[in-house]
Amino acid sequence: MTPLSGLVASFFLLQLLIAPGSPSPFPPRNETARVARYVAHHCDWGALATISSHSPVQGQPFANVFSVSDGPKGAGSGVPYLYLTNMEISVQDLQVNPNASLTMSLAQTHFCKKEGFDPQSPLCAHIILSGSIHQVDGTESDTAKLALFSRHPEMESWPRDHSWFFAKLNVTNIWVLDYFGGIKTVTPEEYYSAKP
Ligand SMILES: *[C@@H]1O[C@H](CO)[C@@H](O)[C@H](O)[C@H]1NC(C)=O
Ligand SMILES: *[C@@H]1O[C@H](CO)[C@@H](O)[C@H](O)[C@H]1NC(C)=O
Ligand SMILES: *[C@@H]1O[C@H](CO)[C@@H](O)[C@H](O)[C@H]1NC(C)=O
Repeated sequence: MTPLSGLVASFFLLQLLIAPGSPSPFPPRNETARVARYVAHHCDWGALATISSHSPVQGQPFANVFSVSDGPKGAGSGVPYLYLTNMEISVQDLQVNPNASLTMSLAQTHFCKKEGFDPQSPLCAHIILSGSIHQVDGTESDTAKLALFSRHPEMESWPRDHSWFFAKLNVTNIWVLDYFGGIKTVTPEEYYSAKP
């Protein structure tokens, strides 16, 4: 087999990989927007990086874990919803500067371990979404509630006196690492119109 045909063969093999424990098959890796939607839907949490407003790291990047959901299992919208309280250290950063980036990886699912992909390998597909975080209300807060509470049932019992609110990342830029050859970008339009 020539190196090229080996590459092509492994590419098609990779297209056939199914993420275990999930109903939908992993999309072909050349369909970058679909891969991004797949990762965004199958991850239940992400690392959210804000610009810290707290001493002694004021003005510096600060990554923290948040539960996320883009919709009930099998019905993802691509929109990362969050359930937040102003008592939280990173949410206090967002009050000063709503800009943030959210990283999600299939290392958080069974996918990468099962296939033997190291989390830093591009084969262990991961995405970085950047934009700004805003509270949602009206009918969109119903959508956010369904998305989050269906995937994170214990949220319903979180302390009532913490003034929880629903929010979303308004995605403006998307980076995808899902194969060799460097990071790829997709536009929000491509991302939201992709069939996951
Ligand atoms: C991905 O590759 C498949 C098979 O070669 C092809 O049919 C499809 O059009 C490609 N999709 C994109 C978005 O390039
Ligand atoms: C947030 O990001 C936008 C777009 O990159 C930028 O124009 C804006 O100045 C940023 N806001 C703050 C408070 O840094
Ligand atoms: C969301 O981002 C878009 C750019 O993708 C921008 O035009 C819009 O003003 C943003 N919305 C809010 C509420 O910041």
